[in-house]
Amino acid sequence: MSETEIKKGLAGVVVDYTAVSKVNPESNSLLYRGYPVQELAATQPFEAVAYLLWNGELPTAQQLAELRTEERKHRALTEQVRAAIDLLPLEAHPMDEVRTAVSVIGAVDMGGSGSVLDASGSPEQNLQRSIQLYAALPAIVAYGQRRRRGLELIEPRDDLDYSANFLWMAFGEEADPVVIDAFNRSMILYAEHSFNASTFAARVITSTLSDLYSAVVGAIGALKGPLHGGANEAVLHIMNEIGSADNVEAWLDKALAEKRKIMGFGHRVYKNGDSRVPTMKAALDTLVEHYDRPDVAELYSKLESEFVARKGIYPNLDYPSGPAYSLIGFDTLTFTPLFIAARVTGWTAHIMEQAASNALIRPLSAYNGVEERHVEGGQA
Ligand code: SDX
Repeated sequence: MSETEIKKGLAGVVVDYTAVSKVNPESNSLLYRGYPVQELAATQPFEAVAYLLWNGELPTAQQLAELRTEERKHRALTEQVRAAIDLLPLEAHPMDEVRTAVSVIGAVDMGGSGSVLDASGSPEQNLQRSIQLYAALPAIVAYGQRRRRGLELIEPRDDLDYSANFLWMAFGEEADPVVIDAFNRSMILYAEHSFNASTFAARVITSTLSDLYSAVVGAIGALKGPLHGGANEAVLHIMNEIGSADNVEAWLDKALAEKRKIMGFGHRVYKNGDSRVPTMKAALDTLVEHYDRPDVAELYSKLESEFVARKGIYPNLDYPSGPAYSLIGFDTLTFTPLFIAARVTGWTAHIMEQAASNALIRPLSAYNGVEERHVEGGQA
């Protein structure tokens, strides 16, 4: 048999087309439906970027107003979702909590949908489901954090846009415009990134004609891993372990000697730096100034400069977003659920694209197990 060339982890393998986003490591750029993500982060509310990813064009003022009206209808925690979250132990990981909540939303919404033959739904149904999930996730993430802190649920406010309302439900106070802007930028930067592991997982599930909720639940499972979305939580664990800039060199000596992966650094596609980092770093800088935390900036810069100098591996988006979310006041365990709230827009855009392509994803494998053999007396 000819030597089969295995592409471990599908590294470098182009498996399909997508029109949702373009990641270009050569030019270190990322386009959402043709727009540079830096321009979107600097000029758009997250609602407009969600609309762009789903529909392919930025919304008109009328279309944005309609999306905002529809989003507000689905912000509040439903009784089924709240009951499901309340059944979980307080120690449950927030990623498991959000995964469970999405499952409940799907089970309720798909309840009357009959056989699996109807699971995949129409493009109109899936767009509506995408908007409803996008609208519902902030309350799920905010309630989970407040519940773990022993605090009461805070109901959404219709007078606040997506990011301001998310922060209101999480902290019970109107956030400063500087904080809202930094948070809004992070949501846009986290929204979409072509065929990353969680998005590809969602596409595989969609390719069997399964439903959008099942695909999002699968994507959440993939995002949880520290090699992927879980890295933003892991960045804070590392920063807390190091403590201050003075400890970085000794800490890195030990970590690298132990061959540890330094979370928040490296990327399968970007090898000369993640295109999103400068924009998220600028947002972090505004938060460092707003909260007067130069110590955070010192530790961030020292660890980055030391690790890049030693390994030539650059930060990815999770490196600046971790400390940014920490400064805003989110619990470390809430960081990756924030990633879900943003990436659900990219996931659902890809789910709708995959559903339209109608092509089952089923790669081959090269067998390297024991040769054929037979049970004694088992052969006729
Ligand atoms: C995200 O795909 C996406 O687009 C994902 C994402 C998105 O928006 O969806 O961008 C979000 O997931 C960003 C990545 C977050 N993950 C982390 O920060 C975890 C730490 N990073 C590494 O685990 C690693 O960099 C990966 C998994 C991200 C990428 O790994 P690759 O491309 O498979 O590269 P590799 O693991 O083969 O590394 C090549 C070498 C190895 O050394 P050798 O074994 O060859 O000696 O570089 C080393 C690795 O050990 N290396 C690291 C490292 N990253 C790579 N060593 C220490 N720390 C690191 N962070």
